[in-house]
Amino acid sequence: MSTKNFDVVVIGGGPGGYIAAIRAAQLGFNVACIDEWKNDKGGPAPGGTCTNVGCIPSKALLQSSEYFEHAGHSFADHGIGLKDLSIDVKKMLARKDSVVKQNNDGILYLFKKNKVSFFHGRGAFGKAVSEGYEVTLGDQTLVGKNVIVATGSSARALPGTPFDEETILSNDGALRIGVVPKKLGLIGAGVIGLEMGSVWRRLGADVTVLEGLPTFLGAVDEQIAKEAHKAFVKQGLKIELGVKVGDIKSTKKGVSIAYTTAKGETQTLDVDKLIVSIGRVPNTTGLNADGVGLKLDERGAIEVDDNCRTNLPGVWAVGDVVRGPMLAHKAEEEGVAVAERIAGQHGHVNFNTVPWVIYTHPEIAWVGQTEQQLKAAGRAYKAGTFPFMANGRARALGDTTGMVKFLADAKTDEILGVHIVGPMASELIAEAVVAMEFRASAEDIARICHAHPSLSEATKEAALAVDKRTLNF
Ligand code: FAD
Ligand code: NAI
Repeated sequence: MSTKNFDVVVIGGGPGGYIAAIRAAQLGFNVACIDEWKNDKGGPAPGGTCTNVGCIPSKALLQSSEYFEHAGHSFADHGIGLKDLSIDVKKMLARKDSVVKQNNDGILYLFKKNKVSFFHGRGAFGKAVSEGYEVTLGDQTLVGKNVIVATGSSARALPGTPFDEETILSNDGALRIGVVPKKLGLIGAGVIGLEMGSVWRRLGADVTVLEGLPTFLGAVDEQIAKEAHKAFVKQGLKIELGVKVGDIKSTKKGVSIAYTTAKGETQTLDVDKLIVSIGRVPNTTGLNADGVGLKLDERGAIEVDDNCRTNLPGVWAVGDVVRGPMLAHKAEEEGVAVAERIAGQHGHVNFNTVPWVIYTHPEIAWVGQTEQQLKAAGRAYKAGTFPFMANGRARALGDTTGMVKFLADAKTDEILGVHIVGPMASELIAEAVVAMEFRASAEDIARICHAHPSLSEATKEAALAVDKRTLNF
């Protein structure tokens, strides 16, 4: 039994936690970070969901499968001939695992570099003491003057259908499928459904996505969502909207899903594997939140104010375990802001400029408000769009699906939202985020020199389109 005192104890080593720990250490605090994630040898694997079973491995598989699809479908257009194209799934997964490991090791290195004390294990609140709060971890006790909870989230299962990670898969199993399934089902056409559905469709699976809501990607700008839907259907992704999922039964060959279609017909979908991607739940069980009096909301998330303060003085919470979008960069921003607030600085997160990206092909990215949100708020706005079809670089790439769309205030021309579906939308959106952070007008972007030929010219042209003066369309 040992007790160690710290200025800051962080529970959770995902993007929220490890970044908070590093920033706090940079600010001169004595910091501990506890994370329980284990690699396949039982050793530490910091980085959380994002690094181990989220952002990083999914992007690795998206990249591999996109190369495969290009090789099979678009190389011929470039005059490149390939015979006997094949995919070695085992090798693809091993590469993904090595990318994950590079990130795990990178975080351990960063902890060392910044003198953050790392503890591998499960942390829980002990009691409040005069110096702060006890956090217990096996037979050790850490005492933190400040505690930052960054325990993240886990996949939500359908009631009565637990994940077995063999045939009924969460994001974890979805990233470890060892053989391309003939038939793959997904429940939930959200971010994971579309990204994981794309990976396995590109590799040859017959993919059906069942979505409960009648609209496709309801949070995305309607015009952009429509364009994306068209592209996904053309690629062969079967998306059924407005379904009600019924009984899910394991069969000899896989899984059988009974559901009712939007028209009220009863249907059965038989698949080899089923991925359930219907959202995530905050990780608060086992934290002893009740014991220490830490307040949770009705979803089980830790209740925080705008500055990530909980109801307990000196206890903070960031990332997926609190309100707001479940995104790695949002968790990181909150982690930095909390460390700075502990240091008496003015940590700051602008929730209006948190970008979203869906890494499908075409990619979908946006920041700010959608056209439907502006209409609902009664805000007078102007819209401008520019199609990648009219962009020279997109034509050279052979990747002309989609558009850039600007929404600007009708009077002041301030940019209110930018929405992109198309090539490299994930990178293009950064310009829009910067512009909105500086409260730029559409005209500001329209007057900036953009390199030619580049995809970013589509951004400039969409800004010009707000004033109805595109030059190339
Ligand atoms: P987490 O990353 O979940 O980390 C929490 C950590 O705390 C974990 O390591 C956990 O083991 C540990 N922990 C929990 N409880 C305890 C405890 N009691 N003691 C010790 N340790 C504990 N977001 C993006 O922005 N971009 C993407 O491309 C993206 N892709 C994704 C793809 C998938 C398949 C999934 C599932 C998610 C994706 N996300 C993406 C979301 C992103 O992963 C999360 O928003 C992000 O990881 C949240 O960070 P966090 O630090 O709050 O929590
Ligand atoms: P999601 O919230 O994106 O999508 C869930 C979908 O499932 C919704 O469309 C919802 O209507 C549907 N749904 C819910 N219950 C259902 C039911 N019973 N039957 C049928 N459909 C149902 O959640 P998802 O895809 O699980 O991802 C979780 C979160 O992880 C995302 O919201 C996002 O925050 C994060 N993430 C981010 C990524 C990125 O930034 N590129 C990639 C993957 C995940």
